[in-house]
Amino acid sequence: MTEHIKIGKAEGILTLVMDRPDKKNALTNEMYGALADALESSEHDPEVRVVLIRGEGEMFTAGNDVGEFAAGIDGPRHVTRFLRAIATMSKPLVAAVQGKAIGVGATMLLHCDHVVLAENAMLITPFVNLALVPEAASSLLLAARIGHVRAFSMFASGEPVGAQDALAWGLANKVVPLSELAGTANQFAERLAQQPLGALIATKKLMRATATITDHMDAESAQFAARLASPEAQEAFAAFAQRRKPDFRKFA
Ligand code: COA
Repeated sequence: MTEHIKIGKAEGILTLVMDRPDKKNALTNEMYGALADALESSEHDPEVRVVLIRGEGEMFTAGNDVGEFAAGIDGPRHVTRFLRAIATMSKPLVAAVQGKAIGVGATMLLHCDHVVLAENAMLITPFVNLALVPEAASSLLLAARIGHVRAFSMFASGEPVGAQDALAWGLANKVVPLSELAGTANQFAERLAQQPLGALIATKKLMRATATITDHMDAESAQFAARLASPEAQEAFAAFAQRRKPDFRKFA
């Protein structure tokens, strides 16, 4: 249990809220655990027909807690369970995104079935900036969605992609003013909750090559774990903690 994930259930919609706004909703192991638990139990919960995910405060999420990247995790890494849950969930997943969606905040959108962006949304995948590699099968799915050169540029430079580009590239369904974000996403979730769930599940299953996705995630995880332990990544994490630019030139 963590206070930083709020869970609500009403009218067939399970709403998951990343609620750690003072840390820009940076995701801790505990938060991944709570999200994974909620997603896993939603699979067998007849009261859940659709899942909606959003973030509290000015941004969707600043991604994985960088302090935990640096310190490592004792015990199970719930991020793996969270990623597997969003990759394999059978029910539709809707996201409402304001401000920055960084790292896993951006890559989790590749597993959402409907994405609504506020006008101020920015998708950022700074894995290489942190001397890491992409996760959540994004090294496969992002390129498939937006083309290799755009995906490579997002990964290699960590430059933000604005809401209008994200829409034009097929990463989102809609861009709305910030004040309309919650209402628009909820409205679509409500509409999905009225649809025949069996047909939705069967359609989603036909549309997603889940085994390929989870195999790719496993390959990324192995690289990711190796990169986490690398001196380059330690330099990136130390630089974040010390609020300075990393210096990678000393590494071959
Ligand atoms: N992990 C841990 N803490 C984070 C965090 C993260 N991913 N993102 C933000 N925070 C914390 C900051 O350390 C700061 O904590 P403090 O108040 O105790 O010092 C607090 O959240 C506010 O962040 P701050 O950097 O002061 O806000 P900002 O508006 O200037 O910048 C970000 C916000 C998100 C752009 C910036 O914090 C950032 O780049 N974070 C790292 C993003 C990242 O690399 N994520 C990993 C992706 S793989």
